[in-house]
Amino acid sequence: MKYIFGNWKMYLSHKEAVQLAVSIAKAAEGNKVKVALFPAFTTLHAVHLSVQDHAITLGAQDCSPHKSGAFTGDISADMLKESGCQYVLAGHSERRAIHGESSALVRAKAMAALEAGLTPVICVGENLSERESGHYLAVITSQVKESLPELMHSDRYIIAYEPVWAIGTGKVPTLAEISEVHKMIASLLDRDTSVPENASARTPVLYGGSVKVSNAEEIMETDYVDGVLVGGASLNAEEFSKIIQCA
Ligand code: PGA
Repeated sequence: MKYIFGNWKMYLSHKEAVQLAVSIAKAAEGNKVKVALFPAFTTLHAVHLSVQDHAITLGAQDCSPHKSGAFTGDISADMLKESGCQYVLAGHSERRAIHGESSALVRAKAMAALEAGLTPVICVGENLSERESGHYLAVITSQVKESLPELMHSDRYIIAYEPVWAIGTGKVPTLAEISEVHKMIASLLDRDTSVPENASARTPVLYGGSVKVSNAEEIMETDYVDGVLVGGASLNAEEFSKIIQCA
């Protein structure tokens, strides 16, 4: 079963978020896919209440590495769980780049998520100069090794490969380039890479970066790709619904 996750970033008012979630929930009905939406913190609970009777789930975009305490402005994984979340993103490239989050911090956040009973979606991906220098596999390898709580094939977390240069740019790697990285990540997790597992994968590896209706189907059919993490296109009910339907 494919995963189709929508990262809403810092967009949508309360009303818009609820309306969009309800439209997406209806579109997801009867489709054999795992759909999760990642709204802003302030709309999480309202979105949760509006879709709780549907087969879609919820995630948050970040969490604190701490369980509780004097951390003004932060949100704990327990709070997210209580707001109806099942997933939380850890180490999205915008957090790594804009907030200077290291892989060590990403790992601490992922561990906090696991302790709260959430599934962390741990994001990795090279930037343009790392891609062009040809060192991208080494960069992604260290991100995976340093960000994951434990390096094993486990169903307790999900990995999202998102090349930074493909996020919000309309540029997408070739299918061969996507498959190369996904296969490498699968082998790092001791996953048997002799056959291109897809739906049966225990540690799902999703692709993210300029996924649209026009490329979603071929990306999801690519070897070692277990689903997609969609940004911009998940903010449009029609576009995201079509992506769900092509899985
Ligand atoms: P995009 O964003 O689909 O708009 O490129 C993906 C992401 O940031 O997760």
